[in-house]
Amino acid sequence: MRLLDPATQPDAIEQAARRIVAGGLVALPTETVYGLGARADDAEAVARIFAAKGRPSDHPLIVHVPNGAAALHFVSAFPPVAQRLCAAFWPGPLTVIVPRDPDTATAAAGGQDTIGLRCPSHPVARQLLEACANLDVLGVAAPSANRFGRISPTQAVHVVDEFQDAGEGLDEVWVLDGGACEVGIESTIVDCSREQPVLLRPGRLTLAEIEAVAGQPVLWSTPEAPDPAAPKAPGTLASHYAPRARLRLMADTQLDAALDVLEPELLAAALREPSHPPKVAVYSRSLWARRAPSKGVVHRSMPGDAATAAHDLFADLRELDALGVDLIWVETPPDDAAWDGVRDRLRRAAA
Ligand code: TXA
Ligand code: MG
Repeated sequence: MRLLDPATQPDAIEQAARRIVAGGLVALPTETVYGLGARADDAEAVARIFAAKGRPSDHPLIVHVPNGAAALHFVSAFPPVAQRLCAAFWPGPLTVIVPRDPDTATAAAGGQDTIGLRCPSHPVARQLLEACANLDVLGVAAPSANRFGRISPTQAVHVVDEFQDAGEGLDEVWVLDGGACEVGIESTIVDCSREQPVLLRPGRLTLAEIEAVAGQPVLWSTPEAPDPAAPKAPGTLASHYAPRARLRLMADTQLDAALDVLEPELLAAALREPSHPPKVAVYSRSLWARRAPSKGVVHRSMPGDAATAAHDLFADLRELDALGVDLIWVETPPDDAAWDGVRDRLRRAAA
């Protein structure tokens, strides 16, 4: 594993670009989460991503491009609704699914006849994508840089934790350090390949923001209410983003009541087995302002505003996992649309 820091190593971007062009794996920072990148036009390079992640190779990957012109290279058509969305939100945390040019990036697309494209805004990602394009590699396929089914990384150190002991026969991962990701949850995905656009995954950009620019209604396909006409897109599985600990979502009143029951039980368990008391964490927006800390419970406060909550979410879940908690009780986020992305990730983590 090699850690490259563009802030202190002037040739970090160039080295990373050369590794990608040579078919190697480089984890790159984006404004959403870190991605595990490989050149999108090379089936062998893409296979290294699937192997490193332990991800089934029929799961389509997002191809990252430096600009709209590079995006056109991968498509057979760029529907007007996708054009409007990309004009409004690129570079930024938006992925569009559009019809794929059948001669490009077949392995990256997991065999789908569509392709997911995203032009990220993180300056390190942009410089890397531009450096690759200068070497004639127009797209970098990059799923989130975590092992299959685990929490997406939002800091370089998380990526190091995921891939430092690559298994036998797996490729070394290089990591470009770009600091903590600003958004903190993955991009908003809109399928623009069908008659009506479909929101496949909410992120920083909400359904209302997408609809306003799309100029037409956008369907929302959720794990609870999947769009029956949707093509099979693995990776939008209900159970995803799982911490090691079991996670449960509860309304604040329910959380209060559960803690009332739990406190004496934890105390009794700690007396019975002082060396292995069960560890429970409570991750709540409102509870700790009005309730005294419970003995034996790890307290974490969820930020009160949606953007900060998204920014902190995966790092906090990783930290709780690292503390070895068995259970994480999470206060259900507010109903408001600004929380859609955070709510979606927590529901999947709890599934
Ligand atoms: O913010 C992000 O989107 C991050 C950063 C690295 O860009 N990437 C990311 O990739 O979250 P990944 O692979 O973890 O999630 C990509 C999602 C998957 O749910 C996959 O099924 C869906 O995008 N996807 C990709 N291509 C698709 C396609 N052609 N059709 C339908 N879904 C697709
Ligand atoms: Mg992922």
